[in-house]
Amino acid sequence: MDRHPSGVSRANRTGTVQVKAKVGVLISGRGSNMAALLYAARHPSCPYELVLVAANDPEAPGLKLAAAEGVPTFAHSHKGLKRAEFDRIVDAQLRSAGAEYVALAGYMRLLSPEFVAGWEGRMLNIHPSLLPRYKGLGTHQQALDAGDSHAGCSVHIVTAELDDGPVLGQTAVAILPGDTAESLAARVLMAEHQLYPRMLAEFVTRERQPEWLLNKVREHALALPQADEVTSHGMPCFGIEKGKKFAYFSQGNHGDGVIAILVKTTAPEEQAMLIESDPARYYRPAYFGDGWVGIKLDLGDTDWDHIGDRLDKSWRTVAPRKLLGLKDIADQF
Ligand code: GRF
Repeated sequence: MDRHPSGVSRANRTGTVQVKAKVGVLISGRGSNMAALLYAARHPSCPYELVLVAANDPEAPGLKLAAAEGVPTFAHSHKGLKRAEFDRIVDAQLRSAGAEYVALAGYMRLLSPEFVAGWEGRMLNIHPSLLPRYKGLGTHQQALDAGDSHAGCSVHIVTAELDDGPVLGQTAVAILPGDTAESLAARVLMAEHQLYPRMLAEFVTRERQPEWLLNKVREHALALPQADEVTSHGMPCFGIEKGKKFAYFSQGNHGDGVIAILVKTTAPEEQAMLIESDPARYYRPAYFGDGWVGIKLDLGDTDWDHIGDRLDKSWRTVAPRKLLGLKDIADQF
């Protein structure tokens, strides 16, 4: 079996055997969110597993729990180290543990830009507020002081800005009369424990979800000049406005259970060459003939620059000469 960085194992050319995505969790203290992630991962249907729990405080109580549950742990104090230097140590541990994703769970450290860039689009955080409200610390008191009817928690993708980045999901928690920051925090924490494992599970599988994949294809295809989307034979497809089609999004067509994009090839032998080069990814789409090739998108390791490139090439085979000329000029800038 052929292993891929995304944690997908390819079994054969007709299908894939999914293995669990590998997640490293960073904590600084109690680690109750880490525990929620850990116990959710114990269910056989959970699509991720924890491969490392690391802390910047060797005394972090969460470390003991992780170790007792058989999860490898790593602790190193950040004291006396420059931010980037410390982050490099953590990064090396995560990578040697085989982590493909990072989940921050009460990690009380600002991250270096290098660390954030190294895990771009692969690192999540949980924050105890309904973002974009109340970034940083003291969120519960702020919600109380503002007279909000609800507090809550958010799971978001980590970007360079603190507690920023696209929100993947939120749970609102009603504020009760007489609530203190502590009583509210305790209820929000229950919501956190429900939300985080779900969001993480969705996140690690989203690159195999039809809706996410279609949106990704759409983004690339509709960025091409005069491209539009229509539905043909139940398939979303992309063409030049009032012109020819250059891509089809195929989801389980003809009962093949495959999510793929079909694009035009640029030379007669190209289809065969591509299939030969990577038979688990490329295939001859039924009823489309030799001028098209299918590229599977649900293998978990799709190179989207490559898909963008194939879409561009395919678009070129059907674009009117005048449009081609204009695009060539535009591409030079
Ligand atoms: C949680 O409230 C989390 O939202 C915030 O820090 C706290 C960590 O708690 N980022 P725990 O260590 O997960 O119990």
